[in-house]
Amino acid sequence: MLRYFFIAFILGAVAVIALAGLRFDHGGAPSLRPPIEIFRDMDHQPKYQPQAPSGFFADGNSARKPIEGTVPLGYALKGGYLQAGAKNGEFEPAGFANQPDYYNTGKFGDSYGDGFPVELTVKLEKLIPRGQERYDIHCAVCHGKAGLANGIVGQYGVAAIANLQDDRIRAMPDGQLFSTITNGKNTMGAYGPQIAIEDRWAIVAYLRALQKSQGVKLADLPEAQQQELQAKP
Ligand code: HEC
Repeated sequence: MLRYFFIAFILGAVAVIALAGLRFDHGGAPSLRPPIEIFRDMDHQPKYQPQAPSGFFADGNSARKPIEGTVPLGYALKGGYLQAGAKNGEFEPAGFANQPDYYNTGKFGDSYGDGFPVELTVKLEKLIPRGQERYDIHCAVCHGKAGLANGIVGQYGVAAIANLQDDRIRAMPDGQLFSTITNGKNTMGAYGPQIAIEDRWAIVAYLRALQKSQGVKLADLPEAQQQELQAKP
């Protein structure tokens, strides 16, 4: 019995060495022929190495340019309707961004910044109408046209919609509003994936205008308007 085992063992060992072991057929030097692959160990994968040519694409490049009108994963649309001299409503994407700076995040390091980023070289009078349009599309359904949390969605079960005229939200830095739009907050979803960066800042600008439009004190108005209002019965 033991003898058969030894014979089988030696034959097995010879078979393993023959297939996988010594390949010294060049006078002691390792073989130049490709190894016999019994298990392929993921050596050959259906993928392109960086800079590798491709026989599949007509131009021979394996590295492809992003398809027009798409956004790469991990990037956000910057916007650009304001640069090209486009009118409000004409939207031309002008590239992507994913930097950790104020323009992209509303933050400086770990804290929210206030004010509009320098990258936004647009006059407020162009930014606000765009912001109004975007606010009415994206935010008014919940927060209401004037930010009073009385949008239509509230009637269908979304509870505790924030009133954007609250002192708490008035006191928030601009960067925190931008970040809330981008990432959402508790039950409010993230609008970063839907709204281009420039448009998010435009909404912040319009939200500030909305806040200014409500609860104004008489003393805050220009002199002429104060007199006009006081003259009314
Ligand atoms: C689907 C409904 C919905 C939409 C659309 C929506 N929000 Fe909200 N939002 C909420 C709810 C609900 C809360 C309260 C979240 C919570 O519990 O803190 C909230 C909270 C907020 C807050 C306060 C965040 C805080 O820190 O307390 C701001 C600012 C805000 N939303 C701005 C916006 C803006 C700007 C838009 C449009 C881009 C928008 N929201 C779109 C539902 C919505």
